[in-house]
Order: sequence, then structure tokens, then C-alpha cells
Amino acid sequence: NETMIIAIDGPSGSGKSTLSQRLAQALDFVHIDTGAMYRSVALAAQHAGIAPDDHERLGQLCRQLQIRFARCDGQERVYLNGEDVSEAIRTPQMSLLTSKISASPAVRRAMVELQRAMAVDLDVVLEGRDIGTVVFPDADVKFFLSASAKTRGQRRYEQLRSRGLEVSLEDIIDQVIARDAADSARDHAPLQQAADALVIDSTSLSIEQVLERMLLRVQQVR
Ligand code: C5P
Repeated sequence: NETMIIAIDGPSGSGKSTLSQRLAQALDFVHIDTGAMYRSVALAAQHAGIAPDDHERLGQLCRQLQIRFARCDGQERVYLNGEDVSEAIRTPQMSLLTSKISASPAVRRAMVELQRAMAVDLDVVLEGRDIGTVVFPDADVKFFLSASAKTRGQRRYEQLRSRGLEVSLEDIIDQVIARDAADSARDHAPLQQAADALVIDSTSLSIEQVLERMLLRVQQVR
């Protein structure tokens, strides 16, 4: 039996996390959040006092890390070396640091290798920035999610506020724009639309509407 790989790429706030989780649940596939993996590396680098341009030590660090996903009470949790870091990796500061750390070729090499190993022999939905272009260029189905910068900033803002973080909407919109610009402009595996990806702009669509389109596309390919 052949397994299926679904790639979902897009900028922050494009609806990637919600939709990739919903799609994986609907299809009973394994969900792999590659952003959470880069965030975990950034957190570990911060703890170890390693600078974003110290590629050698970052590469070493990646080889020592253990990153695991587990579902707990209907929620996906991220474990770094056995410790639950689900909240710690999602602060605005950690988002900015992750964008810097993830530009390191040593970090990307290690994470891509890990992501490919995690998907072996499984039906998977992977979400990130370079899944359809670099990690799995031969993925069975590719989606590229987008939304206006204002909408993406608004979504991020609401997420952060709902977790009790004191942030301003203007700051979050600015950060989302800055992070996407950095992710798109970097030399290694920049955020890019794969030529064969189905692009869905979710600015004026509900989660259900986007999910419906995605499921339709998967059915067409299956
Ligand atoms: O998706 P999320 O916002 O959690 O990703 C955090 C950061 O991790 C992104 O801004 C990007 O710099 C990096 N990332 C990446 N490649 C991926 C996934 C995330 O470079 N495949």
C-alpha cells in the first residue's frame, strides 16, 4: 500500500496550523508541524546561549535534540528533550528568534532530514514553508495558503491574546510582515510557492470552506 504525503506551505497567520490539523484529523493522517520543530531548535539555542550565526554549534545542537509530538486532551503538544515546550515556543520573541535560527543551513539540513525520517511509511500532512519545494518536492498533494497581511496579523493577535499575552495589534501586524519578508528573502529554502501547489487565499473564507476545498483536492488525487 502506498502512503500519501500532503504538503501545506504558507506565511504565518495564513491558517496553516488550524487547517493542517483539521485536514490530518479528517483523513486520519499524522500531522507534522515543522514550524514547531524550528521553534524548538530556537528555544534550545537560546537556553544554550548559541547565536543565530554560529552554524557549527547550531548543527551540533540539532544532532542532540529530541523533538516529539503528542496529542493530549485533544490538543497537540510539543516535547523538547522530554519537556513540554508547547507554550514556550510560541511567544512573539521566540517567533522572531526562530526566523533567524531557521535561516541557518546547518539547522535546515538537520530538520529536513528529521522531517523525512518522521514521514517514512506514514500518511502525513506536513506544514511549513519549504515542504512542497524542498522537503517533499514529490508530495502527492501540495497546498499554498495565503491571506492578506492585515488578516494574518489579526489572526496571530487573537491567538496570542487568547493565551493571555499582552500585545498590540499594530506590533503583531508589523512582526508578521517582517517575519514573512525575512522568511521569503533568505538564501536557503525561502518561503516560496511550489509551481504545482493549489493556492488558497483564505482572507474571506471560513475554516470550513478552506477545509472543504482541500478535501476535494485530496479526493481528486487519491
Ligand atoms: O509556522 P511557524 O510560524 O510556527 O514557523 C516559525 C518560523 O519557523 C517561521 O517564521 C520560519 O522562519 C521557520 N520555518 C521554516 N521552515 C519551515 C517551517 C518554519 O523556516 N518549514
